[in-house]
Amino acid sequence: MYEDGIARDGMRPGDHIVITGGGGGFGRAFCKRLARMGARISLWDINEASGRETEAQVRAAGGEATFFKVDLASGAAIDEAVAASVKAYGTPYGIINNASIYPRASVVDMAPDTFARTLQINITAPFHIIHAFGPGMITNKRGVIINIASGRALEGAVNGANYACSKAAIVSLTKTVSLEWAKHNVRCNTIIPGVSMTAQPLENTTPEELIARGQKNIPLGRIGYPEDMAGLAAFLFSSDASYMTGQAVAMNGGVIMVPQ
Ligand SMILES: NC(=O)c1ccc[n+]([C@@H]2O[C@H](COP(=O)([O-])OP(=O)(O)OC[C@H]3O[C@@H](n4cnc5c(N)ncnc54)[C@H](O)[C@@H]3O)[C@@H](O)[C@H]2O)c1
Repeated sequence: MYEDGIARDGMRPGDHIVITGGGGGFGRAFCKRLARMGARISLWDINEASGRETEAQVRAAGGEATFFKVDLASGAAIDEAVAASVKAYGTPYGIINNASIYPRASVVDMAPDTFARTLQINITAPFHIIHAFGPGMITNKRGVIINIASGRALEGAVNGANYACSKAAIVSLTKTVSLEWAKHNVRCNTIIPGVSMTAQPLENTTPEELIARGQKNIPLGRIGYPEDMAGLAAFLFSSDASYMTGQAVAMNGGVIMVPQ
């Protein structure tokens, strides 16, 4: 495929990808797209009904996926899910740290425990997952990690110090992992999604308001949708992205042009 003689690794059919929050908006789209490309998916979620629904949709389309119920607030639960996923499909080629929570309150009103729990789920869990799967990926000398951040990492968030801090931290974690593991051919990049049609922003607005906001404020004239993020993830797992690591890539209709 490449004419320059440079070896470029990318996801192959049968490769195992672990996706957290696989029952949610982006998570389901990641699972379905990557399974269509031949990946075998471990999908983790705390919500059993939505996780099982994603598993069923992947299988109905002829793909391979297994749901694991995991509460990312628990380190022991993460360790169990790591072991179960490796038992099911072996060392993963890829990870998408996608699940997050966004409890909203001002700095004055937010309980310190809420702040701590948000960081536990949104950044400590991704670290734990990367730490746990990393040695296998390093041994295999191939792997791709995608962390999901947010424009809030760069802009801050009124009523969301917890969320914004966690998302800034995941951009930073991406950079360190990419620096440490580049020599092992394990790449790590961040996706920075723009506001998109999923449950998370709908916690404090309506679909109509979200669509109107996109038409008014977003240069490309619409909000994002899960398939937009799935397309970028497919690229980041592919050999076409084999020279790309440590980056934070915004998929946001043009709102933030330079996300570093
Ligand atoms: N939708 C947007 O506008 C938007 C914008 C920027 C960033 N993001 C990020 O995209 C990612 C995906 O979010 P989404 O928009 O698909 O939202 P979503 O609410 O549809 O999905 C989040 C998923 O995470 C799961 N989850 C929550 N807590 C968990 C826990 N303790 N253990 C395991 N799973 C848990 C939920 O059950 C849910 O399935 C998140 O990291 C979010 O911060 C979303």
